[in-house]
Amino acid sequence: MKNFLEEISGYMKEAFEAAGYDPALGRVSVSNRPDLCEYQCNGAMAGAKQYHKAPLMIAQDVAEKLKDSAVFEKAEAVAPGFLNLDIKSEFVADYVVRMAEDEHFGIDMPKPAAMIVDYGGPNVAKPLHVGHLRSAVIGESIKRILRYMGNTVYGDIHMGDWGLQMGLVIYEMSLRNPDLPYFDENFTGEYPAEAPFTVTDLEEIYPSASGKSKQDPEYKAKAMEATLKLQEGHAGYRALWQKIMDVSITDMKRNYDRLKVSFDLWNGESTVQDIIPGMVKDMKDGGYAYESDGALVVDVKEDTDTKEMPPCIIIKSDGASLYNTTDLATIKDRVAKYDPSKMVYLTDKRQDLYFEQVFRCARKTGLIKDECDLVHVGFGTVNGKDGSPYKTRSGGVPKLSDLIDEIEESMLVKIKENTAQKGENISDEEALDRARKVGLAAIKYGDLSNQATKDYIFDVDRFTSFEGDTGPYILYTCVRINSILRKATEQGIDVSACRIKAPVNASHKALMKAIAGFNAEIVSAYEEYAPHRICGYIYALSNAFNSFYHENHILTEEDAELKGSFLALLSLTGDILKVCTDLLGFEIPERM
Ligand code: ARG
Repeated sequence: MKNFLEEISGYMKEAFEAAGYDPALGRVSVSNRPDLCEYQCNGAMAGAKQYHKAPLMIAQDVAEKLKDSAVFEKAEAVAPGFLNLDIKSEFVADYVVRMAEDEHFGIDMPKPAAMIVDYGGPNVAKPLHVGHLRSAVIGESIKRILRYMGNTVYGDIHMGDWGLQMGLVIYEMSLRNPDLPYFDENFTGEYPAEAPFTVTDLEEIYPSASGKSKQDPEYKAKAMEATLKLQEGHAGYRALWQKIMDVSITDMKRNYDRLKVSFDLWNGESTVQDIIPGMVKDMKDGGYAYESDGALVVDVKEDTDTKEMPPCIIIKSDGASLYNTTDLATIKDRVAKYDPSKMVYLTDKRQDLYFEQVFRCARKTGLIKDECDLVHVGFGTVNGKDGSPYKTRSGGVPKLSDLIDEIEESMLVKIKENTAQKGENISDEEALDRARKVGLAAIKYGDLSNQATKDYIFDVDRFTSFEGDTGPYILYTCVRINSILRKATEQGIDVSACRIKAPVNASHKALMKAIAGFNAEIVSAYEEYAPHRICGYIYALSNAFNSFYHENHILTEEDAELKGSFLALLSLTGDILKVCTDLLGFEIPERM
């Protein structure tokens, strides 16, 4: 089914054609003067040149053809040549009914394909911090959007689990506990099942090791040596590495669970180490990779480049592979395993150039087919109220768990206030459950409602507010809808048997128009990897719903047919909000 604007544009095109003009001119858009009309068409302006005619005359000719239109209530030609349009109530209602009957609310579904979303990207042994929030939250939403559109989507966490941070931790541990069997070169027995450290230890060991390596070149050299030994297969280091992985992953899962973020693939840089040598050989044999200053590089510059595009380094002069090398090998691995039509990567936008290099290199060296899209969605920084990167009170980089705690605590206070105000008595457990759900919406909506590339300010007060463009406001609307539907059921009404009828007043019609915009908006969010479009959409939909709710007496409406039609529309609004909140990655509580 066509989206609403396409559908009404179709009728406008017919009118242009009937008046003797190019139908392509009949594109309709939402009015930018809602005080004058609902929709508009500027085709006559564009046609003036083509037809050597005043635009107003063209617009008048077209308006003439729309006099008895079944679609347009009003089609008015106004100077200098615009067509101001209002839509017939019955027509909107009919469209909304067709949407309600369609499994995907009128979305024209694409041909399904396999896709990968590479997000999260935490580095093992380092605690998750505020910088990991956006990758997780935006990536999860994009994964859900791609999936909703019928694709088979694999979310891959792509951990940084093979780099210097592992060597740093291993070396530091060897200094602190030299007697552990992992460091005994002659050890042949079975390594202990228990890790010799906890996640809290790790959180202290890594920064301490990292600090020392920055001050002391000898320390750094030792850590690099440990990294190399690990990568070359040192048995004790590999065993200890596995322990670091286990402890770290358990902690990561705890954090991602709280965010309702889940991965299908727990792969990382280490996963593809074995395929690197073959890949590098192919790149050399294919004549793509050549030696430059001792390193092995692939040129990725193109003639049309206006910015600097350094070559992609495949192997460093000391023989070590790098971040790029594992990313390229990962592409090769994914192609072999999943044959994806798309791979979408979520990282800080400072990695823009990096991904450009990697993508070009992958294409040039034939790791992927032309048809496979490689997309980098780069995002901006989470800032504090002072406009610089968000910090803890003591000036440190906040841990992700602290950020979630902060939102949940503030939400709990509000939930308690709210229930006390309503005289509702709830257990602490129930209050906490609500605070978690609403808190998650606050944090995710606060992030996702910004265009990904932009920086934003992490403002706990604003995010947790029940009013305005916030997650809690959206949830409040959902809860309100569900509560009305529950009450209707208690009155003995079978809402699923109710039918949507033509709107009877302006707010009723406005709600229908808002609903009619759903499919176009989801498709844009899909094509542009833009969850913020869904936020913008549900905010407008919630506003339209709340105006409708305030201006109509739904449960006390005496005309049973009209009441049924109100309820059916309410139920559709609720279904659409449910889909959208799922796509954004948060849940609707029963009450709040
Ligand atoms: N671990 C990386 C970092 O901290 C992010 C990984 C992103 N994914 C990728 N395939 N490179 O920057």
